Amino acid sequence: MLKGRNLIEPGDFSIQELDEIFRLADTIIAEQGRFIDICKGKLLASLFYEPSTRTRFSFESAMLRLGGQVIGFDNPSNSSVSKGETIGDTIRTVACYADIAVIRHPREGTAKLVSEFSNGMPIINAGDGGHEHPTQTLTDLLTIHYEKKRLSNLKIGVCGDLLFGRTIHSFVKTMNRYPDNQFVFISPKELQMPEHFLNLLPKNAYVETDDLANAISDLDILYMSRVQRERFVNEAEYMRLKDYYILTRKKLSLAKEDMIVMHPLPRVNEIAREVDSDPRAVYFEQARYGMYVRMALIAKLLGVLS
Ligand code: NCD
Repeated sequence: MLKGRNLIEPGDFSIQELDEIFRLADTIIAEQGRFIDICKGKLLASLFYEPSTRTRFSFESAMLRLGGQVIGFDNPSNSSVSKGETIGDTIRTVACYADIAVIRHPREGTAKLVSEFSNGMPIINAGDGGHEHPTQTLTDLLTIHYEKKRLSNLKIGVCGDLLFGRTIHSFVKTMNRYPDNQFVFISPKELQMPEHFLNLLPKNAYVETDDLANAISDLDILYMSRVQRERFVNEAEYMRLKDYYILTRKKLSLAKEDMIVMHPLPRVNEIAREVDSDPRAVYFEQARYGMYVRMALIAKLLGVLS
């Protein structure tokens, strides 16, 4: 039963519950007309303390497409945060008005913290610092479900900023819950997957390398990511690492015909524009799936469907 629950990290939901969400997303995609007013009279609060395009718009579109309405801010300086209000008080207040809230915050652990003040209103973590981004994971898995027709027995390359990339942390942890997935972590040594994170994985489930061209040829999925500028303390270090990987058409020619290239977006330089027209590039499709899976998530957490 997902009604009334929070989604702070993907591990909050069992595999069966994730599957329930994907099945509902499938139905929504197939029969959109059936769902246009199931959230009529419900309000989603969208609290973004950090920039966003896809996550915020896809949540807001999702709620509006379900017939619900949206309040919120995308710039906390327009809210009482700028007067020094604590986030706990903000959430307590929002819970007086809204039925469900989505929050993105630069500080790790904020979504978890606010869930203690939300008085039963479901909280969805839309990214907490470099920690987790569970709804991007739902998006990623729905994309794989459509594009690869399975979530297990896949060889998955994860490339770029594995240190700070919250989408990567949530994605890898979740794919590791499905059987027989193998990971190839591709990064410069400065941006490797954190040690405490690697310790969560079986030793034989992953390899680490800094060589994308060499790793690409037997992957089923290549998950590219942006170097997370906002998490660096040293700008010169960011400048040195930001273009470490650029997926070009030439490099992609070394990959399998049915490999897919994913990216949570926004992209900076890590995928050359010339790759966009390759049928293996699914990152804009991925953004579209993100809205459907968020429609399914909102409906489940609000309990508007039996
Ligand atoms: C990601 C994020 O915010 O972590 N974007 C997103 O939600 N799709 C990835 C990023 O910013 O690099």
